[in-house]
Amino acid sequence: MKEIRVFAPASVANVACGFDIFGFALDEPGDEIAVKLVKEPGVRIVRISGDEGVLPLDPRKNTAGVGVLKLLEHLKSEVGVEIELHKKMPMGSGLGSSAASAAGSLFAVNALLGSPLSPKELIAFAMEAEKEACGSAHADNVAAALLGGFVLIRSYDPLDVVQIPVRAELHCAVLHPKIEIRTEMARKILKNEISLSQLVVQSANAAGLIAGLLQGDLALIAKCLKDVVVEPVRAALIPHFYDIQKAALENGALGCSISGSGPSIFAIAKDRNEAAQIGYAMKEEALRNGLDCDLYLSSINQKGPKVL
Ligand code: HSE
Repeated sequence: MKEIRVFAPASVANVACGFDIFGFALDEPGDEIAVKLVKEPGVRIVRISGDEGVLPLDPRKNTAGVGVLKLLEHLKSEVGVEIELHKKMPMGSGLGSSAASAAGSLFAVNALLGSPLSPKELIAFAMEAEKEACGSAHADNVAAALLGGFVLIRSYDPLDVVQIPVRAELHCAVLHPKIEIRTEMARKILKNEISLSQLVVQSANAAGLIAGLLQGDLALIAKCLKDVVVEPVRAALIPHFYDIQKAALENGALGCSISGSGPSIFAIAKDRNEAAQIGYAMKEEALRNGLDCDLYLSSINQKGPKVL
């Protein structure tokens, strides 16, 4: 096999109470990435579409290239790689756009080389790409995008990623307000310290959410989808965030918070119909307030990247 075309999913990071440690992948949207092995050594990004001309072709500056460069260095491989990146999801949206590009190109190159590494082993290379994109090597988006399902980053040093089996058919509505928030900036505004009482509430909810997911206990999941640390700071970056969150909760969402560093807002629902109803209510509230937006409805993606 010399060529492959893959889909890599968007992801919701933090999931309310798990800043930098929780994430899950979506079935849609996502990126499409075509990779070809060629004779001339080196990594080249030969075409990008859907980015309105903003992403660099330089593989050292584009997340689709950074991870692959690191992977080939690690494997001491001299192969030549040509990458086509088709952005099919909004950038700067809090939906893990840079992570999807990194995960997709790594998955594709690894597959073309005969899968020398496992998807879990690819996470560290995708984190290097995140570092290039926003100055921070967080793993919550890339781990979800590479592994699918719900992930917990149990430790960063050493990296330890735990896949959490979800015993419920959860669905998700994601509202993407059409404003851009740069992750780097959205991280800089966070405080470096939190109070002991915030620690107690946040860690209790994080532990409770994992228990709720493992047991398929929707009432427990709903009680725990709360963020007392990051959401109160970042909400100020998203016009009408609390109105939209209220609309989601009043329409039956188990929980609603900021997706990653925003501006996207996710709501979790117990089935697809409810997710749709919640999503339409969120969208209506946003539009009523003059906030242009897109709506995505998705179940939790269980597979991560897939070959097209
Ligand atoms: N955990 C990261 C953050 C995700 O919230 O900054 C960025 O998408």
